[in-house]
Amino acid sequence: MINKNFLFPAIAITSVVMFSCIKKEKKENYTQSTPVIAEKGYQTDAAQNYHNYCAGCHGEKMDMFVDRQWKHGRELKDLVFGIKNGYKDEGMPAFAETFSDKETEELAQYILDGIKNVDRYNFDDKPKTNLFESDNFTIKLDTVATGIAVPWGIAFLSGGELLVTDRGGKMYRVKDRKNTEVNGVPDVVAEGQGGLLDVVTDVDYENNSIIYFSYSKGKKVNGKTLATTAVMRAKLNGNKLTDQKIIFEANPYAPTRHHYGSRLVLDKGYLYISVGERGNENQNPQSLDDNQLGKIHRIYPDGRIPANNPFKDDKGKPTTVYCYGNRNPQSLAINPSTGELWETEHGPRGGDEINIIKPGDNYGWPKVSYGINYNGKVITDKTTGPGFTDPIHYWIPSIAPSGMTFVTSDHYKGWKGNLLVGSLRFQYLNLCYLEGNKVVKEEMLLKNIGRLRDVRQGPDGFIYVAVEDAKGSVFRLRKFTP
Ligand code: HEC
Repeated sequence: MINKNFLFPAIAITSVVMFSCIKKEKKENYTQSTPVIAEKGYQTDAAQNYHNYCAGCHGEKMDMFVDRQWKHGRELKDLVFGIKNGYKDEGMPAFAETFSDKETEELAQYILDGIKNVDRYNFDDKPKTNLFESDNFTIKLDTVATGIAVPWGIAFLSGGELLVTDRGGKMYRVKDRKNTEVNGVPDVVAEGQGGLLDVVTDVDYENNSIIYFSYSKGKKVNGKTLATTAVMRAKLNGNKLTDQKIIFEANPYAPTRHHYGSRLVLDKGYLYISVGERGNENQNPQSLDDNQLGKIHRIYPDGRIPANNPFKDDKGKPTTVYCYGNRNPQSLAINPSTGELWETEHGPRGGDEINIIKPGDNYGWPKVSYGINYNGKVITDKTTGPGFTDPIHYWIPSIAPSGMTFVTSDHYKGWKGNLLVGSLRFQYLNLCYLEGNKVVKEEMLLKNIGRLRDVRQGPDGFIYVAVEDAKGSVFRLRKFTP
């Protein structure tokens, strides 16, 4: 039974359904982090009804329900009530005349089943010891550093020494669990998501002591502080930064305090820098007009711009832009088995992505996305389209990916060749098992460890994680043998 008010949305919805059927042939990158819906075809009436009557507003894959702050309760009876009576003031139509009681209940149950996989992140067990189980072995955490409130980035110096940034604006050399503050760090705008961010050492660090670090750089304009993602190159002379040079500064400066991106990677003589769209999705990520926000950049480590970069400015000069259409990319790493640059970025609500970065490509934000906006509004119903490069993997709900690293050492049985990604939101370490460029399985490690900011494999082959826990720690992971 279709009630008259419903004809218009029904037409719109049908076209969404058709579009997504075509699209699904192409996209095979679902893993268990995608709700189980839709893949089964529409075998039940509830599935069919969902697609005909609800998907147009609530998303094909129940996007709006998956990662939701429920307003009216999420018990079966609450959903039944809502579907029957609607929430007219909020724009939710009533379906009492559309469905029988039985149909309504089945539809409510169908939604509750579909979003079950969100609950897999609800681990309440707080870690009690430094031992954590994994599928292959028991992990033991060695504390390498503490006292770093928000450890954002870690780099490896020689002799087992670490360099760690604290987002608040301090940098530390850490040896034998002793932190020594590095002097000469520039002023940073330590507000919101900004501050002192990533750090890497030069490939020839042993000889030249050069490091690179990213930070939120401020600028006063008419009494207001604007900020942007900047990268400094400097010499680490003992405990002091000398020979400082700003080699990258993303334009334009913005009044917001979030989405700085800012992970750094050195590879084959280039420095790659990720920059977020600073919360202005309509203006920044798709604009190549002297706009460096919402993009990945490639420069030489001395700040020069490679002549073979993919984009030129209106005077025909190469720009720093390497790819665009990125939202908030907080990790970059080279896949050692292919030599390709991998990236993760935060989606809006749902739709965090892993991308393989290719020169000149457009990653689609905000034109295409798997996520919805935080206010529950669908940003775009398109998850793919011509001219946009699709992610190889995405997470609904969002895990809020931070740093990542490929495991190449033999220290961890079953991990070699796979990818580790930190989760800020659910406070764990995500192990992505790879087959070629596909994530075929995921395992949750170090559950409830704290907001995990960075993960790196050290020159000793061990994995190190930077965690915002009560102590502000860096841990080294080991295989525990009793
Ligand atoms: C015309 C758009 C539209 C259609 C069609 C629609 N809804 Fe809604 N629905 C909404 C809006 C808007 C809200 C309020 C959401 C908000 O404020 O975030 C809502 C809210 C809800 C809620 C309450 C969520 C909560 O937070 O408590 C449920 C349950 C729900 N819808 C189920 C359905 C089901 C099942 C269908 C299909 C039979 C459906 N809706 C069809 C727009 C729609």
